[in-house]
Amino acid sequence: MDLKQQAALYALRYVHSGNIIGLGSGSTMALFIEELGALLKSGELSDIVAVPTSDETAQQARQAGVKLSTLDEHERLDIAIDGADEVDNNLNLIKGLGRALLREKVVATHAHEFIVIVDNTKLVARLGKRGPLPIEVVSFAVDSQIRWLTELGCVAELWLSENGSALLTDNGNPLVRCWFDNGIDNPKHLASLIKSRAGIVEHGLFLDMATKVIVAHETGITEMERDD
Ligand code: 5RP
Repeated sequence: MDLKQQAALYALRYVHSGNIIGLGSGSTMALFIEELGALLKSGELSDIVAVPTSDETAQQARQAGVKLSTLDEHERLDIAIDGADEVDNNLNLIKGLGRALLREKVVATHAHEFIVIVDNTKLVARLGKRGPLPIEVVSFAVDSQIRWLTELGCVAELWLSENGSALLTDNGNPLVRCWFDNGIDNPKHLASLIKSRAGIVEHGLFLDMATKVIVAHETGITEMERDD
């Protein structure tokens, strides 16, 4: 079985009947949603209500027969489950290469537990080593944001779709991708700098948020948990 599917299947042990859950976005989450739907159909799970983090996830959940809701209706989630692009030893993450980082962060913030499911290719010694950091910005003055981000020590570029136009999030905003040659030196410092810049909506650094990371390896599943 594919490693992403193994992580997705394993995570279902943390979902209980009656739970209100956050559903992240991406290919690992698509597998999780499919399995969740199967358990609902078989009656092994019931009364699950889910808050989706993207239009695509909402669509997948609807198809799987998962009842959807919003954070306005359910402010407190029992758990949020999501994939990640990078995971370091302290359970800090880079997310957003599925373009859903803003809603994913909002949903995770409302959850009692935030469980991340990945295959072992996502593990890194240092965030930013494996790929870019995605950053959602408003379209007003986007070139100026790119110049400012470049001054922070990365190669920043507007994320373009195949037809050459700016790729937009479900919120209608463009994304900038920041490539760091040797990874990110100090993720906390970088996160606070980026967050304080007017016109930047959100970034893909998810620091001190994950409560558990489920990692699928060729040899089996491991769980990483935060000490505090
Ligand atoms: C979407 C995300 C995804 O969780 C991340 O990109 C991982 O995706 P995949 O499961 O397809 O590898 O952050 O915004």
